[in-house]
Amino acid sequence: MNKKRILSGMRPTGKLHIGHYVGALENWISLQHEYDNFHLIADYHVLTTNLNSDSIYQDSIEMLIDWLAAGLDPKISPMFRQSQIKEHAELHLIFSMLATVNRLERNPTVKDQIRDLHIENVSYGHLGYPVLQAADILLYKGDLVPVGEDQVPHIEITREIARKFNNQYGEVFPEPEPKLTAFARLPGLDGDAKMSKSLGNTILLSDDAETIKTKLRKAVTDPLKVRKNDPGRPEVCLVFSYHKKFSPSEILEIETGCRSGALGCVDCKLKCTSNISSFIAPILEKRKYYEEHLDEVKDILTDGENRAQKVAKITIQEVRDKMRLG
Ligand code: TRP
Repeated sequence: MNKKRILSGMRPTGKLHIGHYVGALENWISLQHEYDNFHLIADYHVLTTNLNSDSIYQDSIEMLIDWLAAGLDPKISPMFRQSQIKEHAELHLIFSMLATVNRLERNPTVKDQIRDLHIENVSYGHLGYPVLQAADILLYKGDLVPVGEDQVPHIEITREIARKFNNQYGEVFPEPEPKLTAFARLPGLDGDAKMSKSLGNTILLSDDAETIKTKLRKAVTDPLKVRKNDPGRPEVCLVFSYHKKFSPSEILEIETGCRSGALGCVDCKLKCTSNISSFIAPILEKRKYYEEHLDEVKDILTDGENRAQKVAKITIQEVRDKMRLG
């Protein structure tokens, strides 16, 4: 039986942080044997919120190195940049006729970005963010898309576009489904709900132990635990939420120690530093290898792009045939 296809994608923002790992990469890695995977570097999507394209290439390479270092296998699954496969642009154009402005204006992620980034005039391309994403997914006929909750509206728009195309021109596309990541989102070091590069509150997958120690030292804990032996409340402490992920075998001991006051925040943070660094150590080692073998990284990209291109070409021909474009 044919394996179902997964299309997973990320915008290249450079080096990844542990929130990316917990929220996405870990899931991708565990799915790579069970499904037929395509891993997309959504470099054109970056332009929706930042017109400066100077660092897009370098950021794409850094992200790819983290994917490889974390354990994605390029022999199994192609990894490629959206901008190198021109069929993305072509399918986006066709899909843009199938998505109404009204529908796109109701998209909650764009609304949030307009609010958070204080965008006064939203560009045509930014409004069309989910249309480009629909082209990413449907060009490869993805059945499943691993995403967090925030991306579900985009998958819904993808399904609507697929349905509309199929009804209008004939059956070409599957209606993809979101494959939700069963993760608790990692909060940022500053206590913000989310780790995010733009907020500068992250621990990178490429941070060494010393850097992690310095970053964690400043992390906010329970404000009521002022002195070392004061009892603390793990449920309001962000360091504890990191422990939940990175210290599973010690979690009970940490929780009781914090509550009783036996475990002070300084020691608790050192334990957290040590567990996160041992988790990162093998990733860091592989990253070093790829940094020293950049040619290999570029070959992986070229190979991925050739493989993706073949599939994209077939789908676009099918689309043109159904549309009788000749
Ligand atoms: N919108 C996604 C994000 O911000 C990135 C992305 C672009 C994507 N194209 C995709 C994700 C296709 C899944 C499938 O995270």
